Amino acid sequence: MLKKNIMDLTVKMDDNSKSVDYHVRPYQPGEEERLVELLNFSFNGWPQFDLDCSPVEHWKWKFLENPLGLHSIVVAEIDDKIIGFIGEFYQYVKVGDKLLYSRRSAESAVHSDYRRMGVATQMGIQIKELRQGKGVQMGYSASGNHIIIKYRERRGTYFFPHVLCEKMLIRDVDKFLERYGIKNKFIKKIGFLGLKSINTIINAVKTDKKNAHDDIKIKQIHEFDENIDRFWESVKDDYYFIIERTQKYLNWRYCDKRGGDYYVVTAEEGGDVLGYIVLRVNRKLEDYPVGTIVDLLTLPGRLDVARQLIVHAVDYFDESKVISMNVWTVKGHPYDVLYGGYGFLELNRKVRKFFNTTPVDVGEEWGLFESAVPGQLHVQYGDLDWI
Ligand SMILES: CC(C)(COP(=O)(O)OP(=O)(O)OC[C@H]1O[C@@H](n2cnc3c(N)ncnc32)[C@H](O)[C@@H]1OP(=O)(O)O)[C@@H](O)C(=O)NCCC(=O)NCCS
Repeated sequence: MLKKNIMDLTVKMDDNSKSVDYHVRPYQPGEEERLVELLNFSFNGWPQFDLDCSPVEHWKWKFLENPLGLHSIVVAEIDDKIIGFIGEFYQYVKVGDKLLYSRRSAESAVHSDYRRMGVATQMGIQIKELRQGKGVQMGYSASGNHIIIKYRERRGTYFFPHVLCEKMLIRDVDKFLERYGIKNKFIKKIGFLGLKSINTIINAVKTDKKNAHDDIKIKQIHEFDENIDRFWESVKDDYYFIIERTQKYLNWRYCDKRGGDYYVVTAEEGGDVLGYIVLRVNRKLEDYPVGTIVDLLTLPGRLDVARQLIVHAVDYFDESKVISMNVWTVKGHPYDVLYGGYGFLELNRKVRKFFNTTPVDVGEEWGLFESAVPGQLHVQYGDLDWI
């Protein structure tokens, strides 16, 4: 590969059979349709969940209309054809005892005709330049793509310093096995244990429904009101890693239809928010609906509330006839233990390697984060853009 400069590169394929000129540059407003076309092609459908709006509206919601309204986006093009995209936006994350201004990396994609030619690497260099001077203190991102994970391992990327896990409760074992096959050892294990877990959960849910507190009101909402800011103030000191959950952030993330169709429920008592849960049924595959617990957060020590919200979630997903339900947890967090009690089983995907947190300009707060116990860490599906 022959480099001229970051804005203008000449790339030769390894076998010298073809040479390609491409340009790497910041995104320009008006290019959204073409970017989404590339994402759609690169990911074999983008986004990977059903939407009530167009993917372009979803893209704008995410990159242009996020709570801080800030982004860095780089594209690679050949003549007028966009062949590469990398994008990130910004938000606050509480790490240790501080709120850090953070970059959240989102998609990166290169057209399949131009992969392994350094396009993503060059876009990565340019996005770093765009980020300069913005005061970013840390970064985080997640990827299940093994190329990216291996690349990050080679570069010594700092992965999340605690164990994350994905848990699943399978409701329709036959359909699950039909889709994923029974040959895979892991699937076999899940199929068997999944069957077992259905009985566990039915009993647990029945018992917990009976024991629910009547004075706690569980209700669906379509928008978070200002009480949620008081809730956040009461919660945040208990966590050494949590994405800032203000009214503005939560309404953007879960109550704007362009982000997706979420079912949001709060638990309240006497006008105070005790907790909330966010659920989503993904119907991208019409006859294979999957339920995800996107976010769960309660006041410190209110596991009774978490329990009621999880029971509500299982009921909701059962009514929605999902094939399976899944959730991300920090291993050993009290919610993780609760999910286990309701029959959710741990998948053996290396979720920890999916999630990286990069310190850039940090101080003692990072040490607090590293030495935190699971109950002080909050990482949820909703912190990513996978659902
Ligand atoms: C992941 C992706 C963006 C990489 O783009 P790319 O332009 O081919 O990447 P580069 O050529 O710059 O290579 C980056 C690194 O990945 C490695 N790599 C790229 N493709 C690889 C492959 N198929 N197998 C193994 N390693 C690979 C390269 O060797 C390089 O590592 P190195 O610098 O240590 O040698 C591209 O494969 C893609 O668009 N995939 C589909 C969309 C996706 O999954 N995006 C990521 C999740 S958000």
